[in-house]
Amino acid sequence: MSALLEVRNLRVEFPTRRGTLCALDDVSFSIQAGEVLGVVGESGAGKSLTGASIIGLLEPPGRIAAGEILLAGRRIDNLPDEQMRRVRGREIGAVFQDPLTSLNPLYTVGRQLAETIVTHLDMSWSQARNRAVELLAETGIPAARERIDHYPHQFSGGMRQRVVIALALAAEPKLVVADEPTTALDVSIQAQIIELLKRLCRENGTAVMLITHDMGVIAETADRVAVMYAGRVAEIGPVADVIHKPRHPYTAGLMGSIPSLDGHAERLVQIDGSMPRLNAIPPGCAFNPRCGRRLPRCTQDRPELLPAGTSMAACWLHEAEAAAPRAPSGPATPQEGLPGGKGSEESA
Ligand SMILES: Nc1ncnc2c1ncn2[C@@H]1O[C@H](COP(=O)(O)OP(=O)(O)OP(=O)(O)O)[C@@H](O)[C@H]1O
Ligand code: SF4
Ligand SMILES: [Mg+2]
Repeated sequence: MSALLEVRNLRVEFPTRRGTLCALDDVSFSIQAGEVLGVVGESGAGKSLTGASIIGLLEPPGRIAAGEILLAGRRIDNLPDEQMRRVRGREIGAVFQDPLTSLNPLYTVGRQLAETIVTHLDMSWSQARNRAVELLAETGIPAARERIDHYPHQFSGGMRQRVVIALALAAEPKLVVADEPTTALDVSIQAQIIELLKRLCRENGTAVMLITHDMGVIAETADRVAVMYAGRVAEIGPVADVIHKPRHPYTAGLMGSIPSLDGHAERLVQIDGSMPRLNAIPPGCAFNPRCGRRLPRCTQDRPELLPAGTSMAACWLHEAEAAAPRAPSGPATPQEGLPGGKGSEESA
């Protein structure tokens, strides 16, 4: 089975007067139909750029310099703007941190919803309006039939984000990219919004790429999680394994524990230091200056994602494991049990 979304060796660059900054370097992962992939990592790790590349909203001068992005087997990273706009409405929905970036202040929410529906689905204007009322009701907006004629500023922040979720799902996309969808909202309603996104996507079989700083949200919501560091994927795997048996020392630090090859984690203090700037990424493993388990080669050779238990980790500690034949009683083949099945692109 091929993945719904495949990101292959994605490289994003920013040309500057002092040379080219490489913000995403060789990022590869996939999302299966209906799956929720969480994406975590500290500020500047490249989470939003990855999302923006997928939905075709990378802001110049940022540009995709290498790699490809496929949706249902079709390349979407090189489409003309007009075609990409159609993909964005119809096949990929987007939810951003600030609901106001997705809503036009000059139009009622009903008009915006109905417009999206008639543009992408085979419906008349009056059918679309009825569907818009349904969508608002499904997203938990009380008195949807009246509220549909209100303008975005007449809604509270949380209600506005519900409208944005309704808008993102209006054309029944296969994938929703949600970038910190609750960060701008009141803490008391964050969980409700995540719960709503999760429920609606599950009901519709929509896959989600959920970018968040909140490991609690990931633990509750995601099937798999990708941990990003300095523009690369450091680790990717089933959410329970990444949380409880982190295989990359950076992930282990994030989870407050030390990894060991047998998968047992011990408690640990925080990670010293900070993530490098784009113009100062060290050679070898980008994490090496902060890594307590650094090997000699870590300062010279950059590790690719290697099989590590049920996950993949870009860390030389797993080289021996990756090369060794697997014992019959040992852990499953890396990709087994993952939605991608074995031989997905992460092992490439
Ligand atoms: N227009 C730009 N010019 C130069 N560098 C940029 C530009 N936009 C983003 N970057 C850099 O790209 C890197 C990745 O940024 P990105 O926004 O993807 O991070 P993020 O993981 O989403 O962080 P956050 O958690 O703060 O949202 C950062 O180092 C950022 O400074
Ligand atoms: S590759 Fe080396 S420096 Fe990087 S995380 Fe693994 S052990 Fe640490
Ligand atoms: Mg971001």
